[in-house]
Amino acid sequence: MTTKVALITGASSGIGTAVALKLANNGYSVMAAGRNAERTKALASQHKAIRTWTGDLVTSTSCADLMAACIEAFGRLDVLVNNAGIYTAADAEQTSDELWSRTIAVNLGTSFYLSREAIPHLRKTHGAILNIASDWGLVGGKQAVAYCASKGGLVLMTKAMALDHAHEYIRVNAICPGDVETPMLYSEGAARGLDRADAMREADAASPTGRVTTADEVASLVLYLASDDAAQVNGAAIPIDGGNSA
Ligand SMILES: NC(=O)c1ccc[n+]([C@@H]2O[C@H](COP(=O)([O-])OP(=O)(O)OC[C@H]3O[C@@H](n4cnc5c(N)ncnc54)[C@H](O)[C@@H]3O)[C@@H](O)[C@H]2O)c1
Repeated sequence: MTTKVALITGASSGIGTAVALKLANNGYSVMAAGRNAERTKALASQHKAIRTWTGDLVTSTSCADLMAACIEAFGRLDVLVNNAGIYTAADAEQTSDELWSRTIAVNLGTSFYLSREAIPHLRKTHGAILNIASDWGLVGGKQAVAYCASKGGLVLMTKAMALDHAHEYIRVNAICPGDVETPMLYSEGAARGLDRADAMREADAASPTGRVTTADEVASLVLYLASDDAAQVNGAAIPIDGGNSA
């Protein structure tokens, strides 16, 4: 049987690490891209199916380099998981040119460049793109103008690409998590003067289910959406937020 290949960005922490391990544990070969060499190497040491690429993915050139490394290592691509992202907390007046550009570049630009690189390879494998957006790509959130704009853009990029490539049997879907217990959630709390325990207490209390989502639960949704069981799921933006965006 052919081993399917998944490329995951932002794999050296949080949701990306959980996705890399979930896919590797379910038979995929994985190209895990991270910025932190030490942490990415530590991830690879947890599973022999994981290879790594280290670097910043903010330019189209670096995205092309990553795709080339994946194809050189494995010879094919079945699943692209655009997960790398940054959270930036600011209203419009507080959002500098630099903050705006960086947020849009990482959260939207990187996903676009990699998706464009992936299409020729996914055409051959009838593969899938999964964009890790946010429930703040579906509804607005306070003090996160650039972040919401980038994630809302990612949701509609998902839908546009899904329509363009459905006839080639390439599926494109977005996952829209609410709060997930990862370093991003801790740093968002820290920016408001909260320690980890307080940040978690606040986030748990804000969820209709009384708790935040785990990175492993997001990874399980990735596994399903990447699989043939989800052959008819295309152009969807699926919240995984305990009902928060309902
Ligand atoms: N944690 C949450 O509550 C939450 C909620 C909704 C959506 N998300 C989304 O989930 C995704 C993963 O976030 P996470 O929660 O695991 O946080 P995280 O901070 O642990 O992970 C983000 C990853 O993106 C990588 N990254 C950032 N900028 C990059 C760049 N320029 N080049 C390459 N990699 C870069 C980081 O190195 C890191 O590994 C993000 O897109 C985030 O917006 C997270």
